[in-house]
Amino acid sequence: METGEDVLAQLTDSYNRKMDYLRISVTDRCNFRCQYCMPEDIQFQDKSHILTLEEMLTFAEACLELGVTKVRVTGGEPLVRRGVVKFVGWLKDLGFEDVTMTTNGFLLKENLEGLVEAGLDRVNISLDTLQPEKFAFITRRNHFQKVWEAVMAALETPLSPVKINAVAMRGVNDDEISDMARLTLEYPMHVRFIELMPLNGDTDGSRFRSLFISGREILERAQEELGDLRPIEKDDPAAPADEFRFDGAPGTFGVITPVSEPFCARCSRLRLTADGKIHPCLLTDLDVPVKDAIRSENPIPAIHKVLWETARIKPAAGLTLPEESRHRTMSQIGG
Ligand code: 5AD
Ligand code: SF4
Repeated sequence: METGEDVLAQLTDSYNRKMDYLRISVTDRCNFRCQYCMPEDIQFQDKSHILTLEEMLTFAEACLELGVTKVRVTGGEPLVRRGVVKFVGWLKDLGFEDVTMTTNGFLLKENLEGLVEAGLDRVNISLDTLQPEKFAFITRRNHFQKVWEAVMAALETPLSPVKINAVAMRGVNDDEISDMARLTLEYPMHVRFIELMPLNGDTDGSRFRSLFISGREILERAQEELGDLRPIEKDDPAAPADEFRFDGAPGTFGVITPVSEPFCARCSRLRLTADGKIHPCLLTDLDVPVKDAIRSENPIPAIHKVLWETARIKPAAGLTLPEESRHRTMSQIGG
């Protein structure tokens, strides 16, 4: 099955995991410079190497034919790419069940209406702190207010409830665990702390170890301050977040634990980078070039062939040791 050029079976890897969730990094650029993600002076790819949105759509179409049903638009920051709102509409029109976006929120407010019209199903907003000065320290940009306004505005649209992702860092934002958790008592927000991953640049081994804080500790500390958390049954067993609710809260609180409890065994993901490579695993440097296939005479079967090759080499698990710093940044791979 793995090599069938025109076999329209469900894309499945060699460990029998369905691959049905595509993340498309529409750009490696970003208007922030989060410390754990990229250095201030990052060199972005020359634009000539980046796929057009039409080419990304062709790739998505080929994935859809192999049973990929969910797609997430990421970056870098997806909203810095011109045409991305229209792109969301194209993905929806192709027939994906679930089209979502991860954004830092800076350009979200002015795009909310367009995104809703395009059919976006959900939005995840990255927000690590509720304190403007700390926000400026983490992201190296003084934009807290604008992001917060976008979060509030999103709650007034069909995109509510919104998901908030915060990367947990000891000594940086762990003093805000209960403040972030308290948001769920007031708003229909799904707030999740993500364990810091040793992905790039200034999170080298020792720095990573001093910043790391486990999901378990985060849950304990939230409960100490705000009372018991009740677990919520997962709709999607592949979803990486462990989610809970405080009694009577409109929102949920949770943790994503890629480091302490890697979810590789349930991984259904496949990532397309903006420069036309498929990453079968976030935690290894493996990539499979697909640009030539996308640009070939008969792209769909050519892409299918590359997808099956990717499925064949998708590893059982990524290496999660802190020492194993990866070469690419999160913004290049697409979160
Ligand atoms: N560890 C954990 N999460 C990270 N992100 C970026 N870099 C890291 C890292 N080193 C997250 C961002 C955002 C998403 C795109 O990836 O906070 O939520
Ligand atoms: Fe940009 Fe997101 Fe990376 Fe921050 S984490 S620099 S917002 S891509």
